[in-house]
Amino acid sequence: MSVQVSPSQLKEYHDFAVEVATKAGEMIKKAFFQKKVVTNKGNDIDLVTETDKAVEKWVIGVIKERYPDHRFIGEETTDLDAPFDFRDDLTWIVDPVDGTNNFVHNVPEVAFSMGLTANKKVIVGVVNIPVLDLMYTSMRGQGSYCNGRKLAASSVEELKQSMVIYDTGVLRAPWNVDKMLQNVRNIVTNSHGLRSYGAAAVHCCKMAEGYAQAWVEYGLYCWDFVAGLLIAEEAGVYVMDPDGGPCDLMGNRILMGCTEKVARELAAIITHHDMRKP
Ligand code: IPD
Ligand code: CA
Ligand code: CA
Repeated sequence: MSVQVSPSQLKEYHDFAVEVATKAGEMIKKAFFQKKVVTNKGNDIDLVTETDKAVEKWVIGVIKERYPDHRFIGEETTDLDAPFDFRDDLTWIVDPVDGTNNFVHNVPEVAFSMGLTANKKVIVGVVNIPVLDLMYTSMRGQGSYCNGRKLAASSVEELKQSMVIYDTGVLRAPWNVDKMLQNVRNIVTNSHGLRSYGAAAVHCCKMAEGYAQAWVEYGLYCWDFVAGLLIAEEAGVYVMDPDGGPCDLMGNRILMGCTEKVARELAAIITHHDMRKP
């Protein structure tokens, strides 16, 4: 049976997410200026810190207390080797620290990201970039905001006039590096330039702000972009799968354009790569 969410419930969930993101942001900001305890996850550049774990643990606690019947998917407590148990039920999807590599290297583009899904669609998205004092918020159908200022995507009409975001992710297998370099070449020769901020949630917010016109990334998980996806869509950004179909939250990849035309122009010049299959 599908989940029904009334407008007042939607507002309540949004306000709760903003409250949680504010406090999580305080934890991240405090830790950002202190010595970090870092360990590797899958490989030498897939990093995790005590802050990632502490923030997620705290968030799980507050969600359990406030909404004991809601489900939760978080980066630090999910088994990547098992299929995700993603259901129609209300589900909070959280990346406690998006941009851990930035965090470790004192680069300020570090985000807390929290999205709520119902019937497998994101209905609330909040991204806090605390070191830069930027709080991005959105509810489905009600626009998106940064520190209360309404956001609107760029109105650029062509890829060749676009600033494109492309990130290298954390997989350095030679087949993947080769495809990434091909994509860098294709993007650079077909646009105004290429930027990379090292945090998928930040990339979504750049699109929503109109600071970039297109973005494509492979090898992501739902927690990297679920909140940012809504923030971008509510600002008028066109979101799709790089293959051309609708974006799949569990599909490990995303492509955005300030318009559908720009998105499809980018999709047409990209070498598609599935991170799991060389
Ligand atoms: C990473 C960031 C990065 C992306 C990586 C993600 P993390 O998340 O979003 O931009 O390229 O694929 O893993 O590990 O810092 O939460
Ligand atoms: Ca992430
Ligand atoms: Ca993370």
